Amino acid sequence: MSVVMHESLATDVKNRPAYSPGLEGVIAGESALCLVDEGEVGLLYRGYPIRDLAEDGTFEEVAYLLLFGHLPNQKELEDFSAQLTEHAVLPHLLEVFLGAVPSSAHPMDIVRTGVSLLGMVDPDAADHSRAANVRKSFRLLAQLPMLIATSYRLVNRKPRVRPREDLSFAENLLYLLTDRKGDDQAKAMARVLDVSLTLYAEHEFNASTFAARVTASTMTDLYSAITSAIGALKGPLHGGANEAVAEMFLDIGSRERAETWVREALAKRRRIMGFGHRVLKKGDARSAIIQRHAESLSGICGDRRWYEIATAVDHVMEQEKGLHPNLDFYTAVAYLQMGIPRPLYTPVFVCSRITGWCAHVIEQQDHNRLMRPRALYTGPSKREYVSINRRA
Ligand SMILES: CC(C)(COP(=O)(O)OP(=O)(O)OC[C@H]1O[C@@H](n2cnc3c(N)ncnc32)[C@H](O)[C@@H]1OP(=O)(O)O)[C@@H](O)C(=O)NCCC(=O)NCCS
Repeated sequence: MSVVMHESLATDVKNRPAYSPGLEGVIAGESALCLVDEGEVGLLYRGYPIRDLAEDGTFEEVAYLLLFGHLPNQKELEDFSAQLTEHAVLPHLLEVFLGAVPSSAHPMDIVRTGVSLLGMVDPDAADHSRAANVRKSFRLLAQLPMLIATSYRLVNRKPRVRPREDLSFAENLLYLLTDRKGDDQAKAMARVLDVSLTLYAEHEFNASTFAARVTASTMTDLYSAITSAIGALKGPLHGGANEAVAEMFLDIGSRERAETWVREALAKRRRIMGFGHRVLKKGDARSAIIQRHAESLSGICGDRRWYEIATAVDHVMEQEKGLHPNLDFYTAVAYLQMGIPRPLYTPVFVCSRITGWCAHVIEQQDHNRLMRPRALYTGPSKREYVSINRRA
């Protein structure tokens, strides 16, 4: 399309930094939460390497770190974990809403609308202070697994369960979504789920976090910003990719079919879900971590089918496109192994990323400047308005 610009805007645009479609490479703000580096430093959450957090820490520690700014000591962590279970209760309005949701509703739509409703009945609804925003973030972290599990159980006529005080956040999430707890396999699954929650927690200005920050920059409430983020995460180019990857594995069905399936899809110029990244062109450090865990879980569960399909797809993508798997790719292997219902994969991502989103909303409002970029006008140049009775 030829670009016709008004003369004054054309001059204005010349004096501005270059236009970058999709804001690729643009620095859109400052953040102390996360460093995404393709080099030696790698991915850091508030300065801590992702590998150390994922392998030696727990998701609760990461959530605390993102929301409160420092790693908790033992007492802080125990209090935080105990309160997470205590606050995992849905208000009456949510029960009414979930009772009325059509069985055809997409779980991400339920999460988005559910979070919006939670904002109406939050005890701090009218308080937009920093302290209130931290309390709201904490409540959301506690309530989201219940929202997701309860809606899924109602639609599928399964008995409802409550989180247990003797289980960690990941163990409870696995229990709420799959009924599994306690045995050796369930423990191994919960450990890998914990790792995946840590890896999913934060990734600077990705599309959903950016959506949250843009919304927060109008100084609106935290729930409005989180509702924007959930809408953005739903898309298959972002959080929806983990579910799409699992659908692909099911469609491929066996390791023997994988190579032909991928080559045919590429010949049709289809995108293979779980590959590529806007920022990480040389590979995603998180992918190597979850791949190791997905492989070991496959061994523990005695079912290597999904892992073998995945490695075959990975091999062809490397050969054909030079593209690397992103975090969603091997996460789908792990979630298939855990028996998490597929439509809940992206909602599980929400249970983790809520920590990064909330930390960003708080950070944005601590140093706010309204986000209001410009557009490059591509419409017609100025033309005469013709009144309706004179129009052909
Ligand atoms: C994430 C994503 C949107 C980033 O895209 P981007 O930075 O805009 O990269 P581009 O769309 O410019 O792609 C560059 C090239 O790689 C190709 N490509 C990128 N991702 C691809 C994929 N998953 N499968 C096949 N080809 C892919 C594009 O077709 C393009 O090729 P071309 O130059 O021959 O047209 C993209 O890689 C994608 O769609 N991946 C699949 C969805 C996914 O896994 N999302 C989760 C992201 S964490």
